[in-house]
Amino acid sequence: MTVHFIGAGPGAPDLLTLRGRDLIAACPVCLYAGSLVPEAVLDHCPPGARIVNTAPMDLHAIMDEIRAAHDAGHDVARLHSGDLSVWSAMGEQIRRLRALDIPFTVTPGVPSFSAAAAALGAELTLPGLAQSVVLTRTPGRASSMPRGETLANFAATGATLAIHLSIQNLRSVVADLTPAYGADCPVAIVFRASWPDERILRGTLADIESRLDDGITRTALILVGPALAGEGFDESRLYAADYDRRYRPQSAESPWAGWTPESERADDG
Ligand SMILES: C[S@@+](CC[C@H](N)C(=O)[O-])C[C@H]1O[C@@H](n2cnc3c(N)ncnc32)[C@H](O)[C@@H]1O
Repeated sequence: MTVHFIGAGPGAPDLLTLRGRDLIAACPVCLYAGSLVPEAVLDHCPPGARIVNTAPMDLHAIMDEIRAAHDAGHDVARLHSGDLSVWSAMGEQIRRLRALDIPFTVTPGVPSFSAAAAALGAELTLPGLAQSVVLTRTPGRASSMPRGETLANFAATGATLAIHLSIQNLRSVVADLTPAYGADCPVAIVFRASWPDERILRGTLADIESRLDDGITRTALILVGPALAGEGFDESRLYAADYDRRYRPQSAESPWAGWTPESERADDG
């Protein structure tokens, strides 16, 4: 018996990996975090599967479900929204599974920040503007932030920030970021990226608060940084016509002259 943690993606049911889909189809038990996992993903469960929405359950009750499946020898598909590597609560479940000696696997999913960037048609790392993306959040009712992980500290890097779980704190986000990024720094808010009711608000640190309305109170990402402008950046050297590289040697003197994928495979071999 194995517990398969599966990233269910940001919302659109077809943004699930093929591996995730096949695992769901193979598991007689499916536990899903109902607040954000789309119901349509559950259509992949086999007929007769036990399907449990864990949104109203506490960790003990979830572990009771897993133990019962373990005792029955039933594999479990454990679905969380987006990817499992960020804000999935997978860590605490894994800690308990290890203590119980219950095996598990992890299948990644499309994270919400990727879906938001796709909705914006944006690359978050543009040469000369930003080469890092910080996935972060602000403190919430249930979670404080470790010392040092402040928006002001991240802002000092100038990186693109993808701020999760924070739409209700937009005012303080703007106040914390404006000194480092400047009031004219571009901001995008993406609400329910990839869901049918997806919405996008664009603005600057100066005016984004005035653009927010009562329809967006949760499940939104705040993206901030100069890269959001989508202009004023350098082109990457990788595709420059004169860039000497393994796949496009520029002269007979190039260290890669005569290189072919086949020759590399032979070298490796
Ligand atoms: C508990 S976290 C889950 C993050 C998830 N594991 C991921 O990979 O993105 C929930 C937060 O992620 C963001 N989020 C999740 N799905 C989203 C979506 N479809 N569109 C915009 N933001 C989303 C929101 O900031 C939301 O408050």
